[in-house]
Amino acid sequence: MLSSPRLVHLLKLAGPALMIVWLIGYLVSDKPAYDNVVRQFRSEKDLFISDLMDNEVGGPLDGTSISELCASKTWMPGLMISCDPPSGGFGQVKDAHLNCIRFAIEAGAELVLPRIIRRDEKKIANTRPKNGNGPYIGEFIDYLFDFEHLNQTLSKHCPQLHFYRSMDELWDVPQVQSARKISLQDIGVILNGSVIQDMASLPEQIKSYIDRTESPETRPFPIRFKADVISSAFPTAYGNPDLSKNFGRILRPRKDARILAAIALYNLHKQYNPNLDSRQDLQHATFPGLHLRTEADAAPQFPPFDNQVTTLLELVTNSSAEFAFVATGETEERRRAFTKRAKAANVTLVFKQDLMLDEPEGRELLEQLTWDQRALVDYEIMKRAGFTVGLGESRFDWNIALRRSAVPGADGEVRFPTTNESPIQYQDRYSTLLGSSEKGQTLQATVWP
Ligand SMILES: *[C@@H]1O[C@H](CO)[C@@H](O)[C@H](O)[C@H]1NC(C)=O
Ligand SMILES: *[C@@H]1O[C@H](CO)[C@@H](O)[C@H](O)[C@H]1NC(C)=O
Ligand SMILES: *[C@@H]1O[C@H](CO)[C@@H](O)[C@H](O)[C@H]1NC(C)=O
Ligand SMILES: *[C@@H]1O[C@H](CO)[C@@H](O)[C@H](O)[C@H]1NC(C)=O
Repeated sequence: MLSSPRLVHLLKLAGPALMIVWLIGYLVSDKPAYDNVVRQFRSEKDLFISDLMDNEVGGPLDGTSISELCASKTWMPGLMISCDPPSGGFGQVKDAHLNCIRFAIEAGAELVLPRIIRRDEKKIANTRPKNGNGPYIGEFIDYLFDFEHLNQTLSKHCPQLHFYRSMDELWDVPQVQSARKISLQDIGVILNGSVIQDMASLPEQIKSYIDRTESPETRPFPIRFKADVISSAFPTAYGNPDLSKNFGRILRPRKDARILAAIALYNLHKQYNPNLDSRQDLQHATFPGLHLRTEADAAPQFPPFDNQVTTLLELVTNSSAEFAFVATGETEERRRAFTKRAKAANVTLVFKQDLMLDEPEGRELLEQLTWDQRALVDYEIMKRAGFTVGLGESRFDWNIALRRSAVPGADGEVRFPTTNESPIQYQDRYSTLLGSSEKGQTLQATVWP
């Protein structure tokens, strides 16, 4: 569990007691009794951080619906599916990975987990930097996600699905070094935009395409089929509603980003006193979280900097909050410009970097993360905000909003009045997504939070 030296380092940073407690925690089996004794000896900070890590927003993952899904499929020994590595930010990559995993489950196939194309750190708008003349290889799934959590969750709730961390694990299986092509179009799926229309027929469509392409009597065993990146294809409303709430939770951000977010939330709690209770998943009366999506890679359909800043500030002042957390990958210069505008409206803005000011090691670790990894820290902080404002065209924001929509009380009174100037794509008590686009509708229908 504590294999990565980096993780040990982070735990040290969270507090030496925490590290020892965690180490012992894995050795002691009577957890409740043990926890109560140990709690008395731990610092407030240690407790806060480990409570946040243990109490995920939306409660613990419930894998029952995943187990049902996997038990309902016909599994085909020797059939293997892989998908091309996606590029882009957390929301995009998570979507592509979940679509790929779900496709393999529908096919009843073994799965080679997709890798992730790393963007150009110096020119973040370049999400697919050229790899010489060669094909994209990409990073392991651990680049953004907690692989151990994925492995444990799938092994427990979908034991039928055999999976490999990457093609590296299959170096000694010559039959699968090359792959046949497969796509939703190839197998004759009817799409509404990008969304699959007829989910019930999908497994049979996949099987008949594969049998047509490679006869079951003569094909190699095992055999691999490779798909392009699959994006926004599976409608989450299909099937058991509990599946739409839980399936996406097999992928969560890597552990170091979650620990950094917990440290940041502790500092937010101490410095701004927003009544955070680390043993509850989220409380409405804490702090506003704003997503400023104006970075160099922001798609042209996102409103420009001045518009976003004006709207966000108006919403915050209308809500009479005096400070707000801002999730953004913006440059220091633009963060300062936003801060200045906010000051004029008597609003204090807090960025993740500010919450590491008294944490030299935390600051260094945050800086060592890549741009996309740092966004995971924002993501984890935003999930805990009392109310958030994001954009209807952002998968990142749909992930936050839809996860929080499962928290009790989400259907209560909303915080922001609806106005004509800023159309609202989605709103509940905890989250507001601005916009009114078709893409926003597609994301609402396909994001597994
Ligand atoms: C998942 O975890 C199990 C048990 O810890 C391990 O044996 C297995 O190799 C892991 N799977 C992958 C794909 O690494
Ligand atoms: C296609 O999707 C749109 C938007 O989600 C929806 O309004 C429309 O009814 C769908 N069309 C069909 C034929 O299902
Ligand atoms: C803020 O409140 C004022 C007055 O009620 C309203 O006119 C304005 O549209 C609100 N702004 C936003 C962004 O909701
Ligand atoms: C900000 O606060 C100061 C002092 O309380 C007050 O004089 C000023 O009018 C406020 N400005 C705005 C825009 O609310």
